[in-house]
Amino acid sequence: MWALRAAIVSVAAVFLAVIVFLLFAWRSEIPRDASAAEADFAPELIAKGAQLAALGNCIACHTVPGKPAFSGGLAVPTPFGTIHSTNITPDRETGIGGWSEAAFERAMREGVNRQGKHLYPAFPYDHFTHVTAEDNRALYAFLMTRAAVKAEAPKNDLPFALQFRPILAAWKLLSLESGEFEPDTGQSEAWNRGRYLTEGLGHCGACHTPRNAFGAEDRDRHFGGGEAEGWQAYAINGNSKAPIPWNEESIAFYLRNGWHEFHGVSRGPMAEVTGNLSRIPDSDVVAISTYVASIMGDPTPERAERAKGLIEQFEGDRLEQAADSQSSLISASGGHPGEAIYLAACASCHEGRRRQPFGGLNFALSTAVNAPNPQNIVNVVLFGLPPADGEASAVMPAFQHLLNDQQMADLLAYMRERFSEEAPWSGLAELTADTRSGEYKVTIRPSDGIERAPHNVGAEEEL
Ligand code: HEC
Ligand code: HEC
Ligand code: HEC
Repeated sequence: MWALRAAIVSVAAVFLAVIVFLLFAWRSEIPRDASAAEADFAPELIAKGAQLAALGNCIACHTVPGKPAFSGGLAVPTPFGTIHSTNITPDRETGIGGWSEAAFERAMREGVNRQGKHLYPAFPYDHFTHVTAEDNRALYAFLMTRAAVKAEAPKNDLPFALQFRPILAAWKLLSLESGEFEPDTGQSEAWNRGRYLTEGLGHCGACHTPRNAFGAEDRDRHFGGGEAEGWQAYAINGNSKAPIPWNEESIAFYLRNGWHEFHGVSRGPMAEVTGNLSRIPDSDVVAISTYVASIMGDPTPERAERAKGLIEQFEGDRLEQAADSQSSLISASGGHPGEAIYLAACASCHEGRRRQPFGGLNFALSTAVNAPNPQNIVNVVLFGLPPADGEASAVMPAFQHLLNDQQMADLLAYMRERFSEEAPWSGLAELTADTRSGEYKVTIRPSDGIERAPHNVGAEEEL
């Protein structure tokens, strides 16, 4: 009797909890706005929206390469499965043509679509939630004036439980800090602007911050290094492994131009980011750099001292002398199995006299050889850096058909030993084999930067 009563009470409690949760998770539909796609927007507002959309990298996620811009359908891989971006052109049936500005703003702020469905955080609304109403208006004006395209996104590939969208309300309760930032009065105006752009539309942390078991960014390891599209997004905080520490000037130069003398060109998903950032105002790039440099902090005296030596070696015309002295260094070092491969396949470009962004970076300057794992080197070496369509770009041949897994492992071990003081990497042949087989769904994009480099016209000639 007691057992029966207890069972009834617990079933009722569970039932009640489910109802309370569903009520909590429920969001109303915002009715279609029949005239939304025809509204008149001031040209200045649209132009501002275009810049903000570039900062938000909307086009990269919402466009399948070769398909119309913003028409969605790109597969965004997550540790939980594949989520497809949706069509954000003003098509009335398959896009956001019927969305009012309020519906758009709710999607950005709360990750809820017009129909009232919770959206997956593969759409980085955990960052976009900080965007002001004014900037959302400009973005809305920009998107509503794009060409309408009819295109339906493919079905997502997710485990059964995660297909149930109300569960995302629980995720938001745990992980979403919504709303605009209060300015930090202890910091400069540029820093506050930089924080707004970096943590908001720029969503740098979506790639550069590691994620916890729920797929949310781990705030205690802010900018500590994450992943994107099969690439490592290096640490850009105090743990940065760049041999010459980044500072305000070098970050601004890199974000604006897509390359830096001491760091090389931007590659993989970062190429898309710097390509887009070249379109935002200078003052905003400077603000982002002010903020990011403050997160990185000053290097330890030891690191600064080591960097000074490298700068003396590689700055400007000194690269030539460095190239000479290195060749002799190589002939002196003895018999690592990866050495012969390095000398035959890599040294001519990576220790040559061509300066950035045209030549290969000297690995003494490379973050990649100092990173916790060699994923980015494996990606670049296997798949190369393909030329950009119709523009000059830094090009590197692909070695996937020339080097087998063991040769790759030897090469990587040699590079780690010669160019870095970090502990050796392990599992190199396996990592290469898995990357080769497509296990990590590495996206290959042309590198960025050459089109904005000095003397671009002569990109093909020896400098
Ligand atoms: C990192 C990839 C990524 C970026 C960058 C991104 N989005 Fe998305 N977005 C997505 C994905 C994935 C979805 C689908 C989410 C879902 O189905 O739950 C989405 C959904 C949306 C939706 C909801 C559409 C609908 O019909 O439900 C809107 C609106 C939107 N994005 C606007 C934008 C804007 C504006 C930007 C740039 C400021 C942007 N997105 C940048 C990945 C991205
Ligand atoms: C879509 C993912 C993504 C986003 C968004 C992103 N990054 Fe990156 N970032 C990467 C990847 C991947 C790399 C490594 C690229 C490579 O190997 O060249 C990288 C490299 C960098 C580097 C070079 C680090 C080094 O030591 O070489 C800096 C600096 C950087 N990002 C800053 C930023 C800033 C600032 C933002 C925001 C405005 C940002 N990133 C947004 C993916 C991203
Ligand atoms: C034909 C010239 C050429 C050859 C040969 C070449 N590279 Fe490159 N490599 C480049 C260029 C150009 C870039 C882009 C500029 C930059 O950022 O270094 C690049 C970039 C890279 C990067 C990214 C830079 C970094 O440190 O993060 C890595 C890693 C790399 N190459 C590894 C190799 C290895 C290993 C070999 C030999 C198996 C090799 N490359 C052979 C031209 C070349």
